Amino acid sequence: MRTLITKWLTLAACLMAPVWAVAQDYGDTPYVQTPQVVVDKMLEMAKVSAKDFLIDLGSGDGRLIITAAKKYGARGFGVDLNKSLVTLANRNAAKAGVANRAVFYEQDLHDTDITKADVLTIYLLPEVNLMVRSRILDLKPGTRLVSHDYGFGEWPPDVEIVMDAPGKPVGRDQKSKVMFWVVPTRAAGKWVWTGPGAAAGQFYELQLDQAFQKITGTVGLAGRTAKIEDAVLTGEHIAFAVTLPEGGKPVRYTFSGKVINNAIAGEMRRGNDKPEAWNATRTELREARMTDLKPGVMAR
Ligand SMILES: C[S@@+](CC[C@H](N)C(=O)[O-])C[C@H]1O[C@@H](n2cnc3c(N)ncnc32)[C@H](O)[C@@H]1O
Repeated sequence: MRTLITKWLTLAACLMAPVWAVAQDYGDTPYVQTPQVVVDKMLEMAKVSAKDFLIDLGSGDGRLIITAAKKYGARGFGVDLNKSLVTLANRNAAKAGVANRAVFYEQDLHDTDITKADVLTIYLLPEVNLMVRSRILDLKPGTRLVSHDYGFGEWPPDVEIVMDAPGKPVGRDQKSKVMFWVVPTRAAGKWVWTGPGAAAGQFYELQLDQAFQKITGTVGLAGRTAKIEDAVLTGEHIAFAVTLPEGGKPVRYTFSGKVINNAIAGEMRRGNDKPEAWNATRTELREARMTDLKPGVMAR
């Protein structure tokens, strides 16, 4: 127990330091339970439903998957290196009457196929998070990720909260951080389309850059170009606005749609006009940045 406390205190100290300072620590995450109120908040933030398949990497006594199965009717599995925790988790699932929907395996999370996940739940050390990050970013766009206390390097969470965590076995302030991400699609590149505001033979041209889910870029039409504003990429869903001068007056255009491979289908709106169909085609692919500018650890 003492060793565990020491390890978590060391971890807290490491978190105060830049990520590179803990870069060489490949130690496995010790067992610390997520307090039930935090489990509930994690599942709520991930909007878990009966349609979801969850995977908990480092599942401990199984509480995340068992709660998801019991409260929301979801299915899933957890993996843990600790055999007695796996036995306990399967026993807890049986006691909760959800053994058919919540299963636990003695398995290394680094060797676990996570491609089936609609939702991933994680309470691991930050350097371990970084080791699995590239595999998570390669999951199908729209996959949700929720993590207790620790982030994923420079991948910014879509939502982050700090909450009271009474009974938390580590930390002095009895607080927990819960962070939520949606795996983004790769939207970077050059996109073109025609539509309202464009004369015959003219095309809108969107030049889009991407770092994780953050998108920036410009829209050009007939020699007029402006930066996109209010840009959001959530899974496959993209939305942004742009203000272009037209006859000496600014006109705001808004766009929202779904990115599927090299096509976007959605809606665009010019000023206060009625929304119209928006169909864009990617004519040039650009690489999205999905790594840190100051790398912390090597990917495993
Ligand atoms: C901080 S605990 C979290 C337990 C549970 N998910 C929760 O939130 O209550 C981390 C768990 O990860 C497990 N673990 C650590 N390294 C692992 C690895 N490489 N593969 C599988 N499980 C691992 C530990 O045994 C421990 O049970």
